[in-house]
Amino acid sequence: MALLSGAPLIDRAGAVLDGNWMGRATKPAPNLYPHQWSWDSAFIAIGNRHLRWDRAATELTTLFDAQWTNGMVPHIVFAGDDPGYFPSGSVWRSNRSPHCPRGISSSGICQPPVHATAVLAVFRARPDEDGERFVRSLIPKLVAWHDYLHRVRAVGSPLIEIWHPWESGRDNNPEWDGPLSAVRFSPDEVPSYRRVDTDHADAGDRPSDAEYDVYLYLVEQLKANRHEPEAPQAMPFRVRDVLLNSILVRAEHDLARLCDLVGVDSAGRRDRAVGLAEAIHTTLWSEKSGLYHSQNAIDSRLIPARTSGAFLPMLTGSVEDGRLVRLLNALQRDFLVPVGDDGAVPLTIPVDEPGFDAGRYWRGPAWINMCWLIAEGLDAHGQEHLADRLRRGAVTLCAELGFHEYFDPRQRSGHGSDDFSWSAALTVDLIHRSGG
Ligand code: SER
Repeated sequence: MALLSGAPLIDRAGAVLDGNWMGRATKPAPNLYPHQWSWDSAFIAIGNRHLRWDRAATELTTLFDAQWTNGMVPHIVFAGDDPGYFPSGSVWRSNRSPHCPRGISSSGICQPPVHATAVLAVFRARPDEDGERFVRSLIPKLVAWHDYLHRVRAVGSPLIEIWHPWESGRDNNPEWDGPLSAVRFSPDEVPSYRRVDTDHADAGDRPSDAEYDVYLYLVEQLKANRHEPEAPQAMPFRVRDVLLNSILVRAEHDLARLCDLVGVDSAGRRDRAVGLAEAIHTTLWSEKSGLYHSQNAIDSRLIPARTSGAFLPMLTGSVEDGRLVRLLNALQRDFLVPVGDDGAVPLTIPVDEPGFDAGRYWRGPAWINMCWLIAEGLDAHGQEHLADRLRRGAVTLCAELGFHEYFDPRQRSGHGSDDFSWSAALTVDLIHRSGG
């Protein structure tokens, strides 16, 4: 399936990635995100492997150079104290943690673990001695990263939990509204601050001020706990994110593949992946909605909001047939918006879901990484035709509108930052893999 005639689009994507290259990593966007972000770097490497393999490898190596000694991979590695981004490293004070490597300024939280999947993809683009050396250097770090998630973030359940909405990568996803509304604090518990994201993007495309207040309150709670609470049960926001857990299942399988490729013992990794997948299928499925949901770890209730995260458990490759039929129906009926010639992209939440906002961050728009991830899950269940529709939709949006951070596919408009790295990188990957 050739997606579109790819060459000029690939050149444009390459120019975006070159423009955002910082020397050892790629910033997600020129002004809005002027540092290195964890899951962004994984998606960027997945695309850049086709264009500049050395940069793709360096991207991931640089990220893991900032890995904490407890195994956590921080969600932001700060490239200096750029006043153009808030909250900066001096707000996070990651050096309060004994685990943060000296000389590194990072946040104290993590993001979805797409990295083993990215390392495998980078290796496959160069399965030679360079590729093997790269894989060997990262395997122990990936092992430590996954071990951290299971050791520290699985609290009373095999499912991994997040302690801040930023850890989901989907900051203002309506799934977090309920858990966040239960976080009680007084205004004087949030140090005064000024947002700068709205200097670079339309305020209507970004989370609200009220959401920022609680985000900052949660940062203060994490800092007070030196970023690894001794009593995680006491954290005010604890959610078992369906997306993060599903990505980890795929990443565990990919890490086992990496180990096998270079002859490193992978014992136990596949069992761990299967166990986590079982926990997702047992705990996060709602028979009522016919969808998967995140779970509030504080009250063990499923969070009712319907979001595109519902489809990520397809990444496990083990969704049973009856559920798959219901997921595919919901995807096509409630989420997909047709784009161009036989393409379609998923909205973050259905138009009739409470809180839908067509241009606002994770409350409506379509994202290129979600197209990529859901298409991977569809492939894993033999749904290649529908997967290709999503891939074609993603590439068509970027070809028509540019490499925006996210899109309103119904109005055909781009939102958030321009020149967004993962939109460019994943477009390159989708075109390459389609033979376009
Ligand atoms: N996504 C957050 C931001 O918008 C941080 O990860 O700054």
